[in-house]
Amino acid sequence: MVFAHFPNSSDEEDFEFSDENKEELERIVKKYPVKRSALIPALILIQKQEGKISSKAMQYLAGYFETSAMEIWSVVSFYTMLKTNDLGEFHFQVCDNLSCALMGAGKLINFLEKRLDCASGKTRSDKKFSIERVECLGACGGAPCLIINTDYFENLTEEILEPIIVSLEKGEVVAPIGADEVALNLTKESSFASSENKTKTILE
Ligand code: FES
Repeated sequence: MVFAHFPNSSDEEDFEFSDENKEELERIVKKYPVKRSALIPALILIQKQEGKISSKAMQYLAGYFETSAMEIWSVVSFYTMLKTNDLGEFHFQVCDNLSCALMGAGKLINFLEKRLDCASGKTRSDKKFSIERVECLGACGGAPCLIINTDYFENLTEEILEPIIVSLEKGEVVAPIGADEVALNLTKESSFASSENKTKTILE
């Protein structure tokens, strides 16, 4: 069994909420009858401000919620949506659970690691991409699938992923690809873009 240890904080800067987020935290806390119930929203607020949740931030929250840093860490290490490391501008969360594994997630991960020059669980040195293997994304009908930042991409193959990556490298916005669009076998004339600002992602 692997245990997640409390992250080392020796080279981190002290955490402080911005004035705006201090007010936001007070507003969030007032919504709950018990202050401690606001812990997860508070962690999400930290992640929004800092891009991740540092050990110094966990210690800060421990003081705020009058609990131990280890208790805060037990929550942070449980939820995969809460991040303790720097992520890339485009964060790929690739499902490797049963349905996706059976439908080729392993091959897809190998492709991504080579194509993005980034190992799973790491962030590329230029901070452009990061890859994370995750548990079921709740889209088993669209296996294999992944999430880029907050958008779902389903029924993926290397051929579908390649133009998506090219668009991201160019800084273009890529619209999500749900299972329905792929099932309809849309052609070059069709676009998954939901607004004219979005770059067209075309299935070859
Ligand atoms: S197993 Fe991959 S989304 Fe459920």
